[in-house]
Order: sequence, then C-alpha cells, then structure tokens
Amino acid sequence: MKVMVGVSGGIAAYKAAEVVRALQKHALEVRVTMTDSARQFIQPLTFAALTGHKVITSLWPAPDGESGDSDASIEHIAEAQWADALVVAPATANTLAKFAHGLADDFLTTMYLATTAPVLVAPAMNVNMWEHPATQANLETLRQRGVRVIEPGAGYLACGMVGAGRLADPEYIASAVLNALGRSHDLAGEVVLITAGGTREALDPVRFLGNRSSGKMGYALAEAAQSRGARVILISAPSALYPPAHVELVKVTTADEMRAAVLSRMPEATVIVKSAAVADYRPSIVADQKLKRTGPMTIEFLPTEDILAEVVRQRRPGQLIVGFAAETQNPLENGRAKLLKKGVDAIVVNDVSRVGIGFDSDQNGATFLTATTAIDLPEMSKRKMADRVLDEVVGLRRPQSLLVELSVAELSGEALPSKSQTASSDQGSEFVVKAAASSRRQIIIE
Ligand code: CTP
Repeated sequence: MKVMVGVSGGIAAYKAAEVVRALQKHALEVRVTMTDSARQFIQPLTFAALTGHKVITSLWPAPDGESGDSDASIEHIAEAQWADALVVAPATANTLAKFAHGLADDFLTTMYLATTAPVLVAPAMNVNMWEHPATQANLETLRQRGVRVIEPGAGYLACGMVGAGRLADPEYIASAVLNALGRSHDLAGEVVLITAGGTREALDPVRFLGNRSSGKMGYALAEAAQSRGARVILISAPSALYPPAHVELVKVTTADEMRAAVLSRMPEATVIVKSAAVADYRPSIVADQKLKRTGPMTIEFLPTEDILAEVVRQRRPGQLIVGFAAETQNPLENGRAKLLKKGVDAIVVNDVSRVGIGFDSDQNGATFLTATTAIDLPEMSKRKMADRVLDEVVGLRRPQSLLVELSVAELSGEALPSKSQTASSDQGSEFVVKAAASSRRQIIIE
C-alpha cells in the first residue's frame, strides 16, 4: 500500500525521516512532499534517499535549467489518486489552518483537497500554539471531516517550554496509518516463533554440509508478523540477511542447535512457523583437523532429530503449528502426506523445482494446506507471501465452532449473522465479517 508523507515546517521536520522509516518497515511504499517551510529545516535529499523517489516540493515546474518538479502542476491530482493514505508529520498550526479552511497554495494543501484517501495529521508545535483556540477549532473542524488527529505527546519542547506539542512517536504514527489502511494489528498478543535459514553440519573445522536456503522467507515472515503486532522470536540458521528491527534473534548453526533453541523457546510461543531448511542428516564423525585429500572418501551420515515432529509432540493446547515443505515432485500429494505424518495444523508447500521461485529467490509460490483445505498462493514476493501465510494463520486462529456455525448458515441460505447475533463470541463486528468471508472461501474449497 502507498502512503504520501507530507512534511510541514517545524523543528520536528527532521523526525519525519523516522516516520518514513517506520512506515517502510511495515512494507508500505512511501513518497514525500515538503512545504517551503519544511525545507528550511531538512533537505529534500534526505527523503529522496530514504524513499528512492523524487520529493515534491512545489506546485510549479522548476525554472528552465533547474532540476525540480517538472510535472508538478498536474502531479497533485496524480499523487492524490496514487496515495492510499496521506499523513502529515509534523503538521504545523499553519498547515492545519489551511486544511481546515480549504486553502490550497502549495502542493501539500492542494493534494489534501484532491485526495479521497484517509488523511492523518500528527501535529507538533509550541504548547501555546497547540492550546490556542484557533488551532483547537481547526482541529475540531478537521476531525468532523474525518481527518484522524494523532495527538502530540507532552514533554520538554524545542522552544524550551514544557507541555503538549511533541510529535507523536514515529512507530505510533505508523500504527495509526496501518489502522487507517485497515491493516490492523491482527496478531497483537500472539508470540510467533519462526525458524529460518539453512542449518549447517560440520565435516571438519572448515567444511560443512548445507543447503540453498537463504532465510528470505523466514525473515519476511518475521517482519510481517512483527508489523502485525506479534512478539517475534526468530531462530535463524546462518543467513546473510539483517534481522528485521524489534524481533528477538536467536542465532544457531546446526540442526541440533536449532532443536535446542526451538524446544527451549516454544513454551513462550502461541504460533510456531517452521520455515527453516533443516538438515536431515549429519556426518557421524566431525574431524578435529582439516581433512586431507587422500583419494575417494566415504562419509557416514546419521539422521538428525525431526524438530517439527518433536514440537508437535510437546505442543500445549492452543499452540498453532505451521510447517513448510520443500518438494521437487508431486508437491500437493507429498505436502499432504507430510502434514498428516507430522501432525501440524498447516503446511506451506513449495515446489522448489520451479524456476525463479523458492530457494534464494525473492519470489515464492506455494499452497497453504490444512487437513481440509488447499489454498493456492500464486507467485508473489516473499514479503507478500509472508502476509498471505499470516492471513491464513489468523484464519485458523478463529474459533472453529464459529466458522462451522457461519458455514451452516450460509449453506442453508440464511443471512450472515449480525454483530448482535454473535456477540456471545466476545469478538467485534470486524471479526464477524472476516470470519464470514473466510468460511465462504472454505466452503468453496471443500
Ligand atoms: N524439519 C524439522 N526438522 C528436521 C527436518 C525438517 O523441523 N530435521 C521441518 C522443516 O523446518 C519444515 C518441515 O519439517 O517445516 C518439512 O521439511 P522438509 O525438508 O520439507 O521435509 P522433511 O521432514 O525433511 O522430509 P523429506 O526431506 O524427507 O521430504
């Protein structure tokens, strides 16, 4: 989803860079427009470097010979249509006043009038300006028109005064944007344990047996789960990737180390997703010294423990377990057999023989299998795939009795239950609508 960040001219303008980063962390595509005053505080180049896009600073084309916003005079309409949300951070008293009164004398204010997307403002200013009746009246007008106001925090202000007027925390602003976009924190309260990467089994001090897993799928899952409000424990075999911010990273190398880490952390987890490519065998002897070339060599392998099977044996009630299956032939049949053999709630089956997806690729295509359903997840980026997998995990989290109730109601032609009819499930109306949609798809698949 795409977000336009409007930066207006206050001392907090420099914090807009953190707001951009926080939004990007949630996989949102971000562009920036700045007012003239904002440019007194921070250079457009900062935002251009962060977003990889030209920063729009004017309504008008740049004079001949100067680089600038050549198409800017019509861009406010295009950008207004492009953006799924407009967030102004910081929003100065002046910008709020212009918004409230419909003044459109620069790109930001013009785009505000032209967009039909949700608009959020994160004010930051001196406490007296914030408390002034004019500012408060403008905010009230904006609220009544549906603008979401992200209240400033209180504290020591740049002007030396103490009180309300500090720009809200960038993470908080990002989560308000996610809410406005309908990307709720649907994994809030969950502790998601994810395994990632490919384990390595040593042959001698310098050599190991490994596999082609890059960790990209597991790291994408960690980032997606974190951005949907979960606490994430990422148990990673060697990977060249940087871990996503705010996830708890546990580094391991061998299948045995991964087993120990998973078993010791699994009591904390409510959801376990095992996307790591774990070695099935390890050399029976690890040489102390580097092996010398002495002609043909035979290495004996011993099987490693099947961590996933052990996790299923040790699971406590309510823990949801999702495995991955890398298959090179008959992916659906083999995946289904693996699901049943391992006793997991779901398995994400990858056909790793397909060119361009799977191991070490940024793309993936898979089928999300449960005991009764097969949901096709066609080729997409691993980051998108991570969200689709988690959508299904959230679906499995819903009480089965409610799903069955909804399915029966739909099959028998009854209207979908209203909020009041399902109030006993202590879920909100949003839950009911989503559950109904999910059950409809389940019926089709079954
Ligand atoms: N797995 C595991 N411990 C192992 C091997 C695999 O926990 N020693 C997990 C993987 O993390 C994955 C799932 O089991 O979630 C399936 O892995 P995969 O390699 O596809 O299957 P295997 O169980 O190893 O079976 P096979 O290699 O025979 O297909």
